Amino acid sequence: MQSLIKAVAKFRVDLTFLQCYDILKFASETAYKTYEDEGYILSKTWTVKEILDWTRDYFKGAGVERSRLEAEQLLAYTLDVDRIQLYMDPDRPLDENELNNFRPLVKKRKSGQPLQYITGQVSFMGLSLKVDERALIPRPETEEMTEEILDGFRDYEGVKVLDLGTGSGAIAIALARFLVEPNITAVDKSPEALELARENARRNDLEDEIEFRGSDWFSKVSGNYDVIVSNPPYVPSSKLKELKEEIKDHEPPEALDGGEEGTREIKNILDQVESHLSDSGTVFLEIGHDQGEEVKNYATAQSLSDVRLIEDSQGTERILCGSKGA
Ligand SMILES: C[S@@+](CC[C@H](N)C(=O)[O-])C[C@H]1O[C@@H](n2cnc3c(N)ncnc32)[C@H](O)[C@@H]1O
Repeated sequence: MQSLIKAVAKFRVDLTFLQCYDILKFASETAYKTYEDEGYILSKTWTVKEILDWTRDYFKGAGVERSRLEAEQLLAYTLDVDRIQLYMDPDRPLDENELNNFRPLVKKRKSGQPLQYITGQVSFMGLSLKVDERALIPRPETEEMTEEILDGFRDYEGVKVLDLGTGSGAIAIALARFLVEPNITAVDKSPEALELARENARRNDLEDEIEFRGSDWFSKVSGNYDVIVSNPPYVPSSKLKELKEEIKDHEPPEALDGGEEGTREIKNILDQVESHLSDSGTVFLEIGHDQGEEVKNYATAQSLSDVRLIEDSQGTERILCGSKGA
């Protein structure tokens, strides 16, 4: 240490011995944090507040966007408490077992695994869903589309719904919970996603309310529906590699890839949707942020009426909506 202090002092003659010591102490602690990574967690007794601050900084350094929120969610999951509990008891010390459980989760998140796949769960419209690499993690925009449907159909009994590309089952399950005795069919071409969707329906006691079926969009669908809803893959193929690692390396590509322009699957659905809508039926499609005009024109050309675009809470045109042609 003495020789290092001399070395620092040689470059910065204006520094005192103590200042040189502080610089080296800070550098060695930072190096320890950096090189020992999450092993650092095990090296002391931590309180809830301390471990949250450390994890937030660690995640921030690793490029995790919502570093504080994710640190809280991961710790709350580890301790099996609500996030609010972390604020109510910030000085609670963590025992060795809790630290041992927390450490590998921090490591997984740092390596790019999405938080929801680590905890294996997500809240969608207040419902608890299991999520894993079999299906896309449901997004807030999709909750907004589901709310839009509920706004229009909440008061009707026995609404007939078709959910195309159900994935984790999020939309179908939320509609089954919040509509009045609906009749819901949910399809996906991925058997793995359907398996997960069924598990989620069971988890929410709704397995008897939804009929799940393997189908390439409408190929195994018959009859007419009052609501046809889909969040189809809409990322242009060329943009897939530009997605964040946590998306492109973990979420299923068949849930994301919308072909060359991104609108291939939206158009596939629009080609056939009119003939599957009931007389007063409405289609709701989630679309990419810059696809509004193109898909609106396409939907109008497919004889849908009252075609409109609905903005999400960020002000982005996110939902295409249209009714059975007159
Ligand atoms: C963007 S994900 C949406 C999942 C879920 N509905 C949600 O909003 O979270 C698209 C889903 O469509 C399914 N899919 C893709 N192409 C399909 C096709 N041709 N027929 C049926 N499902 C398809 C994928 O397997 C995936 O589960």
